[in-house]
Amino acid sequence: MPLHLGPPDIENLVKRDDIDLGASLALEHGGATVGFALLARRAAKGRIAMMGIDPSLRGRGGGRLLAERAIEVLRARRVMRIVLEVLDGNDAAASLYRSLGFRSARALVGWTRQHAPPRLTERRAGAHLAPIDLIACAHALAVHGDDDLPWQLQRITSSDGTQRAFTLRGVAWAWLQTPSAQSATLRGLLVDRRWRGRGVARELLAELDGLLPGRRWDVPPLIPVGGAADLALSAAQFVPTVTQSEMELVVR
Ligand SMILES: CC(C)(COP(=O)(O)OP(=O)(O)OC[C@H]1O[C@@H](n2cnc3c(N)ncnc32)[C@H](O)[C@@H]1OP(=O)(O)O)[C@@H](O)C(=O)NCCC(=O)NCCS
Repeated sequence: MPLHLGPPDIENLVKRDDIDLGASLALEHGGATVGFALLARRAAKGRIAMMGIDPSLRGRGGGRLLAERAIEVLRARRVMRIVLEVLDGNDAAASLYRSLGFRSARALVGWTRQHAPPRLTERRAGAHLAPIDLIACAHALAVHGDDDLPWQLQRITSSDGTQRAFTLRGVAWAWLQTPSAQSATLRGLLVDRRWRGRGVARELLAELDGLLPGRRWDVPPLIPVGGAADLALSAAQFVPTVTQSEMELVVR
């Protein structure tokens, strides 16, 4: 799947995912840049956030060279494991990473829902949501987020200023973007650890429908299969879109 990113997208990505431009790599050939690897580190965990080779020069060893160098660079920064994601169907990348020792750790799924299902109750959905500062939401995530969340869900940064956050009675939180009048992107949802398993996430999703009625909702492919968010989204009639594999290399 070709991915087209402009300079502002890259800038946001760098801020949002803690990409270290000083550590990141460019591959030069004949005086031109023909490949790149964006690298990130948080404590003892490293990530190859994105990597690509000029399409006309693929299959000539450039990808392997970059990936091997990326592992060396992250190892020199004392990371103990390196993670990355590969979309299902990207056999070239998956095969490259497997050959370097990466193993699939879990599947991460994206979700969508075209429009809200009919509501059965009279209560005005959305009324129990309160807007909160993104920083307060980031604090809730630091307190209640699971340790093994995918990289992109571990932290909230204000980056481009397009994210908004809401809380449901101070026990659940959602952060989102509204890229158009017809669509909304759910960037994350979180339930206080003490309130889990009681249908709060489902209620939060229903409240979001009330807040932004008639929208198509998209959730990026970062929801671990078999987790609580996965169950809440399917219960709220979201359907899976794309799946990617989170791969991991234990650095020795
Ligand atoms: C993935 C990518 C970086 C590989 O770069 P490349 O320069 O073509 O790769 P290399 O020539 O170094 O090949 C390295 C390995 O990749 C795998 N590979 C490369 N092309 C492949 C293909 N068409 N089919 C299957 N495996 C392939 C093989 O395992 C190969 O091993 P080998 O060296 O034993 O042949 C490149 O295809 C690319 O830029 N793809 C688009 C962006 C992308 O998918 N990035 C990764 C997302 S995380």
